Formats: sequence, C-alpha cells, structure tokens
Amino acid sequence: MKSAAQRLADDYSSSAPDYAGLWGPVILPMALPLLDRLPLETCQRVLDIGTGVGGLVDHLRLRASTAFICGIDRAEGMVRVGARTRRGPFAVMDAECLAVRSGVFDLITMVFVLFHLPQPGQGLREAVRVLRPGGAIGLTTWGDDPGLPGLEIWTEELDRFGAGPDPRDECVRQHGLMDEPVKVRRLLDAAGLTALTIWTRRYERAWDLGSLLVLQKACGTPGRRLATLSPGERAACSERVRVRLEALRPEELVWRCEVLFAVATC
Ligand SMILES: C[S@@+](CC[C@H](N)C(=O)[O-])C[C@H]1O[C@@H](n2cnc3c(N)ncnc32)[C@H](O)[C@@H]1O
Repeated sequence: MKSAAQRLADDYSSSAPDYAGLWGPVILPMALPLLDRLPLETCQRVLDIGTGVGGLVDHLRLRASTAFICGIDRAEGMVRVGARTRRGPFAVMDAECLAVRSGVFDLITMVFVLFHLPQPGQGLREAVRVLRPGGAIGLTTWGDDPGLPGLEIWTEELDRFGAGPDPRDECVRQHGLMDEPVKVRRLLDAAGLTALTIWTRRYERAWDLGSLLVLQKACGTPGRRLATLSPGERAACSERVRVRLEALRPEELVWRCEVLFAVATC
C-alpha cells in the first residue's frame, strides 16, 4: 500500500497542469514578500524544496542571477511541468530524505509545503543538514485561512449527496501545527534553527464565480470529494453548488486569508 506522502505526490502529479494554470499563479505572488528578507545577493547555491512547477525558481533567479538554483519536489508530474516550462535543474526528491550532500546550500526555500510533510520536524532537520553552517531558510505557510469562498456550501452539498471524505490523509494536511508565529518558532527551534524574523500578512482576493468553480473542481477538496460520486451525482451536486454560489453577494466571493513568513538560520 502506498504511503500518504506518495498518494499526495500522485495527486499533485495528476493535477500538475491545473495547478500550473489555476492555483500556482494565485498563491505564488502571496509568497514573494519572503524574497525581500532573504540574503539572495550573496548566495551561490539555493535549493527550493517542494518547488511544485517551479514558479518561485524564476523569481529566485532574477534576484540571485549567478547562483546555482535547484528545485525539488516529491511529485514527478509537477517536476516534469516545471522542467518543460522553466530553466532548471529540477529533481524528484522527498523533503524528509534529500538525496543531497550535507552542508552545500547557502539558502533553502520552502513555500507552502511544510504542512504537507508527515514529519515537518524531519523536513526541517533535513534542510539544516544540507545547509552550510550559517546558511538561511525561508518558508511560508498558511496562517488564519477560512478556505476559499463557498467551501461551506460545497461541504453541505457533498454531504447531502453522500460524497466520501477528502482522500488526503490528515498527516499531509498539518496546517494546524504551523498556522501561528509561535508554532512556527517552536518547530524551527526544535530543528536547531534560530528564527531571525517571523511575520504575517493578510491578503484579499475577489473571485468571479466561473474561475472559482473551475479551481475548486480541479485542485481543491471539493474536487477530490466530488470525484468519489458517480458522474450523474457529480453533475447534480455541481449544479446545486453553482446555483447557491450564484446567489452570493460579491462581498461573499472575497477570499480573505493570512500568510505566515519565517526566515531562520542554522
Ligand atoms: C501547495 S504546493 C506548493 C508548490 C510551490 N512551492 C508553489 O508555491 O507553487 C505543495 C508542493 O509540495 C510538494 N510536496 C508535498 N510533499 C512533499 C514532500 N514530502 N517532499 C517534497 N515535496 C513535497 C507537492 O508535491 C507540491 O508540489
């Protein structure tokens, strides 16, 4: 039987083109303030862990133009899309067990990935292992985030149709372990890192109904639960959700969330 981490990787692999087109462009700009606080000008080797389709790598390259910058991810499908569309190198690797020599990187980035690791502490200790002494790590996670607009409506309708639960295991959805600065500081301390700065930033995004529905069906929990229904039930459930979302006021289609940033050194 496949591990929860491998099932997550398979899920990301199969939705990689949707991720690249729909979700990646939404969340990548939210992570970019991290780069302002990283020592990018002096870095020679940078590792982006959980790089996905590699969006951050382009931005790292703009700010560290002479550095060797590598992106790794456990999902082969994501890496393939990254390698096809961007300058690499990219590799398939597990963040908890990096196939990398110790002490070689000046900087590691982990953007919206730590909560996916069954053992986030092990992922951070691996990052420390491959960092040179005095190297830096920059990460982002979700802080206060009620989820995309309409999530409650989706949940009610999916429950009404008897849809199965989200097939993603709890151990690869550990947002609650790191959704406040004090929790992130604790994780960093436990991994032997010294937090230099931890801060949060709130974002607002107004959705149009069409884009929201496409995204929720392609990349989110609603889509994964919807897939547990028969084709007929799927269509009927989606239609009920669409009608109910259409009745929402524009204000109710605004997503308000918080991103948590941290920079630490070892
Ligand atoms: C929400 S996406 C973020 C991707 C990218 N950092 C971005 O901001 O667009 C999470 C990524 O973490 C990867 N991931 C999850 N578990 C992983 C693991 N154990 N090792 C490496 N990558 C992992 C997923 O495959 C996925 O590409």
